[in-house]
Amino acid sequence: MMNTSMADLVIDLGALRHNYLKLRSLCAPGVRMMPVIKADAYGHGLLPAARTLAAAGADYLGVGSWEEGRDLRQEGIGLPILVLLGVLPQEAQEAVGHDLEVVLYRRDVALALDAAAGIQGRKARVHLKVDTGMGRLGVAPEEVVPFLESLKHCVHLEVLGLISHLAMADHEDKTYTYQQIGKFEEVLVAARLKGWELPLSHIANSAALLEVQASQFTLVRPGIMLYGSPPAPNRKMPVDLKPVMTFRSQVVQLKHLPPGTSISYGGTYVTPDRCDLAVVPVGYCNGYSRLFSNRGAVLIRGQRAPIRGRVCMNLTMVEVSHLGGVQEGETVTLLGPDGQECLRAEELAGWAQTISYEIYCALGTANPRRYVGA
Ligand SMILES: Cc1ncc(COP(=O)(O)O)c(C=O)c1O
Repeated sequence: MMNTSMADLVIDLGALRHNYLKLRSLCAPGVRMMPVIKADAYGHGLLPAARTLAAAGADYLGVGSWEEGRDLRQEGIGLPILVLLGVLPQEAQEAVGHDLEVVLYRRDVALALDAAAGIQGRKARVHLKVDTGMGRLGVAPEEVVPFLESLKHCVHLEVLGLISHLAMADHEDKTYTYQQIGKFEEVLVAARLKGWELPLSHIANSAALLEVQASQFTLVRPGIMLYGSPPAPNRKMPVDLKPVMTFRSQVVQLKHLPPGTSISYGGTYVTPDRCDLAVVPVGYCNGYSRLFSNRGAVLIRGQRAPIRGRVCMNLTMVEVSHLGGVQEGETVTLLGPDGQECLRAEELAGWAQTISYEIYCALGTANPRRYVGA
């Protein structure tokens, strides 16, 4: 198989749509879905992902920053959009102006949003973040009702619901997850007793959607599974998910080396025998981690070719002695399928002791993306 470019990163929007519909089938009736497309849709491209998911029937979109929300609005995306990281007080005008819903955890931001909405003659819609055990953004559960009560005079502010995030939903042991859900429910009940309706309250990520029915509430926020990866490696999946991102390159030079030849910086690999070595024009500047050095592999002709020596900034060397007669120009698959074999993001993540999320973000943002399957 011949390839024409040095670094060909392909996003299959048909696969994204397929995964969305599979996740939809896991939702209880009436539960809305907010695909999480922050960080440039985990490196898959904010706008193409948003358009695909909107066309597939998504109810909401979850972005990271107000700038991502603005970019979607400017391209005509009309779905409700939630800014998951929240905004700074000085960004309130922009958020309200672009009709973005905002995750809230600071009183000064609430006041700024209320003021901006008053000036613009609109409502500022917010989801109040509760820290039920993630130890990240959010107010403590016992602060929720006082926080809400302190917003009573903010007449331009509408609190649509509570939001929280699960820290361990991907673990086999769900004890901590049920504790978090329990706290979330308690706070919801307490707030409702004070007259706060909070119709759109949500806590479920991919792992919870998959394995914790009680987490669904009125809306779910899956991310990673949309892009084709399980929330944790080796998880049994009740639905088949398709890989959305593939990354290919080609052999730019083929070398026949004698035993005792040192490969790449630092000489961390020295050929024990005669070696056919393929040089691949992809390195850590392409988001291909240096931690893959001497650990990872690529696919050539549907077979694994192990990485020899260190991954460089722009180049990686792989052994092809066992494949016999590999040619310059032949296709190299760094992520995705080739024949019966497939390199999944989870496997690459294992070589670098990280998670598939980081693999997608790194590759997707460092390379030009080509879209298929729209
Ligand atoms: C607030 C929030 N909700 C939902 C998600 C989606 O999580 P996942 O990709 O594990 O489904 C994320 C992702 O990190 C997040 O930060």
